[in-house]
Amino acid sequence: MKTEDLKDYIASIENYPKPGIIFRDITPLMGNGEAYKFATDQLVDYAKDKQVDVIVGPEARGFIIGCPMAYAMGVGFAPVRKPGKLPREVIEVTYDLEYGQDSLTIHKDAIKPGQRVLIVDDLLATGGTIEATIKLVHALGGEVVGAAFLLELVELNGRAKLGDIDTKVLLEY
Ligand code: PRP
Ligand code: ADE
Repeated sequence: MKTEDLKDYIASIENYPKPGIIFRDITPLMGNGEAYKFATDQLVDYAKDKQVDVIVGPEARGFIIGCPMAYAMGVGFAPVRKPGKLPREVIEVTYDLEYGQDSLTIHKDAIKPGQRVLIVDDLLATGGTIEATIKLVHALGGEVVGAAFLLELVELNGRAKLGDIDTKVLLEY
């Protein structure tokens, strides 16, 4: 399999969830063992020389990519979640959406100061989710050593939110 072949496993749904949006659905990729393993292995390969201590991924689709990577790399995974979902002490960051605002949280003890963190999500769009995730990691004293995504929606310029963080994307749309 080649990286470009993974596009065969991304479904594009027009006008979902709102008119004008093309939703890039990764569930066919997840549903195919060969494609899911190949995509995970590609991202693990990117991360292998980064001496990652912990992977951080936002719910829900960040877990789908980040957890198998953490397993393959033998490192921990720290979930970033919507408010009210994590049971112990958290820190919270509020970020802007196209319309309105949302918040994300992480357990205060999920990252120790100085730990090397890889941020993982399925998809980079406007970058709002990843910007908030970076803020959470920095607030806990973590060092973001890279960011990895299956897919990037290039027109939305989420890359700008990543600044000079080393970034790996498998598929561009
Ligand atoms: C999607 C996707 C990314 C985010 C990207 O998550 O999984 O996390 O949007 O968009 P952005 O770059 O504009 O922030 P969503 O909020 O739909 O939640 P889900 O993973 O629970 O489906
Ligand atoms: N998250 C943000 N924009 C998206 C899109 N177009 N498709 C799938 N997930 C998304």
